[in-house]
Order: sequence, then C-alpha cells, then structure tokens
Amino acid sequence: MSFELTVAITGASGAVFGRELLRALEADERVARIHFVASENSLRVIAEELGVSGRTDLLAKLLGAAPAKIIQHADANIGASIASGSHPSHGMIILPCSMGTLAAIAQGLANSLIARAADVTLKERRPLLLCVRETPFNRIHLRNMTLAAEAGAVIFPCIPAFYNQPVDSTEMARQFVYRVLAHIGLPQPAAYVWKAEE
Ligand SMILES: Cc1cc2nc3c(=O)[nH]c(=O)nc-3n(C[C@H](O)[C@H](O)[C@H](O)COP(=O)(O)O)c2cc1C
Repeated sequence: MSFELTVAITGASGAVFGRELLRALEADERVARIHFVASENSLRVIAEELGVSGRTDLLAKLLGAAPAKIIQHADANIGASIASGSHPSHGMIILPCSMGTLAAIAQGLANSLIARAADVTLKERRPLLLCVRETPFNRIHLRNMTLAAEAGAVIFPCIPAFYNQPVDSTEMARQFVYRVLAHIGLPQPAAYVWKAEE
C-alpha cells in the first residue's frame, strides 16, 4: 500500500490536532506522499496555540525535524498538482476546518488551493474529511455541514474522546487523529480501542 493524501490546516482552533496528524502521517510507512497546505489564517492560530510563527520552515517546526515525505504548497497556488483531478490521491483531510473554509467548500467557491483541492476531491468521489471546529454552531454552519455532507464529505468534528483517559491535550489530539486515520484507511496500532466488560 502506498498512500498519497492531501492535508490542510485552517484557522480554526485546534492546531495541535493538525500537528499530530502530520506527525502520524510522516511516521507511517504506508504513506508515500503528503501534500500539505496551511491557510493564511491558520498561521495566526498556530502561533497562538503552538508558539510556532511564520510560514518559513513551518513543517520542520511542527514535526521537530525536516519532513521526508510532506510537500508544502501555498494556499494561493491554485496551479498546484492537487488542484487537478488528474492527480492521483487517496483523499483529503482538513484538520482543523474553520467555518469559513467549510462555507467555501459547501458553496463550491474553489477560490483557494484548499477549497479547490476539496472541490476536486468531491468531484472525483474521493474521501474528504472535514474536521470542523466551532462552538456553538449557528444555522449557517449547520446548513453548510449538511450541504458538504450531501456532496460526499464526511463531517468529522474535532470532538475528542475521554474514555481513554488522556493525560494531556497532545495525547487527546493524538487519539483523535488515530480515529481520523482509521476512517481514511490507515488504522494505527497505538489507537485506543474500547473494550466493554462482557
Ligand atoms: C485564535 C483564533 C481561534 C479561532 N478559532 C476558530 C474556530 O474554532 N473555528 C472557526 O471557524 N474559526 C475560528 N477562528 C476564526 C478563523 O481563523 C477565521 O474565520 C478565518 O477567516 C478562517 O480562515 P481560513 O478558513 O482561510 O483559515 C479563530 C481565529 C483565531 C485568531
């Protein structure tokens, strides 16, 4: 198996989820290539939440080492490979996904690389996981989630589990990311599995 995926981080709270997703994918031997896009607004949130600033060497700062298989594209580069359906891909994950990016996808705006790549993912009938984060939701958010789901996206909200008793936010984020990866076909050996007393 040789996976090629697109990962985007947008300006919703929860940058730690995006960082743990990139780390898990970089470490996964089944993954050959990751195309990564950070929205302009995500940089502000990444700086606030992770203390990592700027676009320069962003991946190395998030991973703790230079990336071996993750390529970063600018969100303004609508001519990148992932903007075309002819480019082979196993799907796309947006984690975290802001309400703004959700709206752009739900309305088919395709006005940034993230929105265009998501649009392509839907039209090619490939998995698109939108890990939305906002609270509370207004009716526009709810309608946009319905629209995106009807077009084929999976609404996979950033709602971590507590039954695994995570000791910190990184562990909580990591276990959430393992659920995301299992959903896209990359089950992780360290994922917590609930065992009922039967
Ligand atoms: C610290 C911080 C936290 C934010 N958290 C959220 C959030 O949880 N959900 C959301 O939809 N927007 C959130 N926003 C607002 C988005 O960043 C903003 O709407 C932005 O335009 C989204 O752009 P993007 O989708 O291109 O990244 C937050 C902004 C900041 C500065």
